[in-house]
Amino acid sequence: MEKTVEARAHANVALVKYFGKRDLALNLPAAPSVSITLSPLNTVTRMSFTDNDSDEIWLGDTLADSKFSTRISNYLYIFRELSGEHRGVRISTQNNFPTAAGLASSASGFAALAKGAARLFGLNLSEAEMSALARRGSGSAARSICDGFVVWHRGEKADGSDSFAQSIAPANHWDVRVLVGVTTTGPKDIGSTFAMERTRLLSPYYQPWIQTTHVNAAEAVDAIEQKDIEKLGEITEYSALAMHGAMMATEPPIVFLKGTTLDVFHLTRQLRKEGIGAYFTCDAGPQPKVLCEAKDVMTVEQRLREFPGILDVIHCSVATGATAHFIDHES
Ligand code: DP6
Repeated sequence: MEKTVEARAHANVALVKYFGKRDLALNLPAAPSVSITLSPLNTVTRMSFTDNDSDEIWLGDTLADSKFSTRISNYLYIFRELSGEHRGVRISTQNNFPTAAGLASSASGFAALAKGAARLFGLNLSEAEMSALARRGSGSAARSICDGFVVWHRGEKADGSDSFAQSIAPANHWDVRVLVGVTTTGPKDIGSTFAMERTRLLSPYYQPWIQTTHVNAAEAVDAIEQKDIEKLGEITEYSALAMHGAMMATEPPIVFLKGTTLDVFHLTRQLRKEGIGAYFTCDAGPQPKVLCEAKDVMTVEQRLREFPGILDVIHCSVATGATAHFIDHES
């Protein structure tokens, strides 16, 4: 009987954003980024070999369409090459949060897939090698491999071997929370890969954005080590707004922010006036995310829940890195 691997990876939220590639095919970033791995948002992926050389990919109970299946099969080719095992793989994967709505499903998805595939194909890899492989599926997946507070190095090498993520501090280092405000559950209009490539090619603010990101990433690492929420929060807001500013300056402009998203940014400013350390961020979608320390989270969550346009709030804590193990076939 074929053995089944079960892999699990959490989503992550970038405090200093990855938005621009120095190599498109290898997902090599133009600048470092800094993130927090987030529970409970996760992907659970089960994988086993098929008895032929074709892959079978299920998203929950639905067989994946050919575009998605081809992307996964191409990605698995890396593991086939590394292991010398040219076998087909049956994959079934499930997210516990809305897919493709700016909640980083590709990050947890490819981190789980990479971790599971390495186990299934019998590859013995370091965490850095694992992260670099996850990166090839989707850049931000490099960070979801790692525990807690994470930096993803830009690297210098053309082959990307020095562009991997690494934990700055474990999940239990500092009890911060991230509240995701759900404003829509539908898929977004354009993907982050497309948006970042257009921004690189067309935004007059792209170079300044990349330059400031280098500085911000180094400062964010310091702020995390010092548990300085004010400093980390200011960098977080700056990075999100600068990223959106750069993409809004393309022609035609790319605008992910909705009215509610921006209103939540102003809500965080209001909360700070009231002495509560709440800070805004937002990725390539309309969902606002609010960072705060655990001591303030009840107040912040309540204010966010009652906020007009917010359909739901997902309360996230700092999570550990990705895991994979063999399970009994029946379970
Ligand atoms: C805005 O990792 O989805 O969320 O590497 O092309 O797959 P690809 O892009 P992806 O981009 C994430 C962009 C972001 C910022 C971030 O997570 O750092």
